[in-house]
Amino acid sequence: MSSFWSLWIIVLTMVTIIGITWLLFANRKSTNAGPDSTTGHEYDGIEEYDNPLPAWWFYMFVITIVFGLLYLAAYPGLGNFKGFLNWTQVNQWESEVAEAEQRYGAIFAEYRGMSVENVAKDDKALKMGQRMFANNCAQCHGSDARGSYGFPNLTDSEWLYGGSPEQIKMSIIQGRAGAMPPWQAALGDEGIVNVTHYVMSLSGREVDQTKASAGTEKYQMFCTSCHGADGKGNVMFGAPDLTNNIWLYGGSQGLIQRSIRNGRNGKMPAHSELLSEDKIHLLTAYVYSLSNQ
Ligand code: HEC
Ligand code: HEC
Repeated sequence: MSSFWSLWIIVLTMVTIIGITWLLFANRKSTNAGPDSTTGHEYDGIEEYDNPLPAWWFYMFVITIVFGLLYLAAYPGLGNFKGFLNWTQVNQWESEVAEAEQRYGAIFAEYRGMSVENVAKDDKALKMGQRMFANNCAQCHGSDARGSYGFPNLTDSEWLYGGSPEQIKMSIIQGRAGAMPPWQAALGDEGIVNVTHYVMSLSGREVDQTKASAGTEKYQMFCTSCHGADGKGNVMFGAPDLTNNIWLYGGSQGLIQRSIRNGRNGKMPAHSELLSEDKIHLLTAYVYSLSNQ
């Protein structure tokens, strides 16, 4: 906020408070003494008593004004003035988080020294892991972790980046970025169709043999570096196994063709900044348990 607008707000607020205070005190005392004195106003024989505000009412107003002033001194409210308590939403949130870490830290610490495999056998840990999964991961991977189009199923045996405890943990901590380049320019329409037939043949599907064998050569040339000569993928690049019937982006001919033509770029966000190490340890165990029990 610029200092002009800050000053503007300070002046408006203070003038209002001073004005209200003046109004309150100005009406406190009656001008004429005596209980039956009037203000002198008279309409059709109806007169107005000149009585002060009832005391309780008057003091309630005074308390409100004093409260308002103290509040504005303590908390941010007067333009850019931060208040002498230095309160901000952010530091309140941070202190609440720190308090929660302290309170729940002990529960997590119990599992800190245990291997992921062992934590994955602990019912209590898995329940906590499941709740954290629902809060942090389910929006993308689904509440049952079975994924959907573009979001990998975490309950099956296929892993883009590997399913060992270390690999799963790495996926969560660092995030992952799948980089399947587009091949339209290199392969052309016919090349894309041929290589699609070849890719489909890898999982034992009925394909046009001439197209598939024309595609083999292209596959050897462009695809083996990531998906492997046998099509079994490579966890180093997150390149999926193309020889089974598990498809991240759909296994219809049209969708496979689209993956190859336009490329794919799945993004798993890094969680190292969002979740503590202990929580990631439990989440790893939970994810690990989904395909290892
Ligand atoms: C914003 C969406 C999103 C959120 C939130 C998200 N993920 Fe992911 N995750 C993805 C995508 C997309 C991929 C696949 C990345 C790729 O295609 O290369 C992925 C990949 C993974 C993998 C690797 C899977 C494999 O086959 O190797 C794991 C493990 C994983 N996520 C676990 C989690 C956990 C645990 C959480 C919660 C802490 C989480 N993800 C939250 C989108 C998300
Ligand atoms: C640089 C490494 C790289 C090369 C080269 C590459 N791919 Fe990929 N491919 C990937 C990655 C990584 C993914 C997963 C993308 C994601 O997670 O979003 C992928 C995904 C795919 C998919 C989608 C799989 C699914 O489960 O939905 C198909 C099909 C595919 N690639 C075919 C090919 C073909 C055919 C070629 C050669 C023309 C090729 N790829 C070359 C890395 C590569």
